[in-house]
Amino acid sequence: MSVIPFDQRDGWIWYDGQLVPWKDAKLHVLSHGLHYGSCVFEGERAYGGQIFKCTEHSERFRKSAELLDFEIPYSVAEIDAAKRLTLEKSGLTDAYVRPVAWRGSEMMGVAAQHNTIHVAVAVWEWPSYFDPATKMKGIRLDMAEYRRPDPQTAPCHSKAAGLYMICTISKHKAERKGYADALMLDWQGRVAECTGANVFFIKDGAIHTPLADCFLDGLTRRTVIDLAKRRGFDIQERRIMPDELESFNECFITGTAAEVTPVSEIGPWRFQPGNMTKVLMEDYAGEVTPHA
Ligand SMILES: Cc1ncc(COP(=O)(O)O)c(C=O)c1O
Repeated sequence: MSVIPFDQRDGWIWYDGQLVPWKDAKLHVLSHGLHYGSCVFEGERAYGGQIFKCTEHSERFRKSAELLDFEIPYSVAEIDAAKRLTLEKSGLTDAYVRPVAWRGSEMMGVAAQHNTIHVAVAVWEWPSYFDPATKMKGIRLDMAEYRRPDPQTAPCHSKAAGLYMICTISKHKAERKGYADALMLDWQGRVAECTGANVFFIKDGAIHTPLADCFLDGLTRRTVIDLAKRRGFDIQERRIMPDELESFNECFITGTAAEVTPVSEIGPWRFQPGNMTKVLMEDYAGEVTPHA
């Protein structure tokens, strides 16, 4: 994967309705989205030239903005078309797709009722890491200090840039300690999710995952739940307290970026990535592969 800084790359970015050269896709420092966090985004993947769950992501994108009290000035169909055009222009088939929308610069205060809503879509190379042998070793997770906020404290179902502030702090702390990521509890002390992925556990042949009542109900999470049901696996969405973690045998995380990634450790708890996780990894790989 390229290490060229993201503002230094070549290519095209869809910006407010047209494709502009990558390096020209700029915004002013006095943008409300930057100062007050009025910004939402999506993270999507294209496999074999097809954006997985393209329309569902566009719908969530618009919904995320509504939860932040602004309307994206493009329909779901227009956002879908913008993403497909940007992907096509990139010449990539396996790629990450990043739509982003933010309040512009007309007003610079807490209130910014009439600021222009800007929208951009960028696409970059991001191969999928379906190397089952390496993946099956599992990743190590730290326990995050920050908790997912109470739904009455923040618009927790919006993929809002501001909600990632505590994720970045938590992930940085985890990485400094040698972990890949961190598991966050929610405001009530229940197991919630990772900094950019949902979490699942397995014991006695059943799959358990926290209720997505105060964090993002990931599209990958929903896909994996469907795949598990198709397999006839017992799947339970429920409250999970951290003291239950020692009773689980397997653990994995799900997300557009993470796909299905086994976990071998969370703080003091150990897991052995096993057969059910492997089956779901493979089923997910099959599900995202475009069929003729
Ligand atoms: C905080 C958080 N939770 C969960 C997810 C998983 O969501 P999805 O599967 O829709 O990518 C993501 C990724 O976008 C995320 O950032």
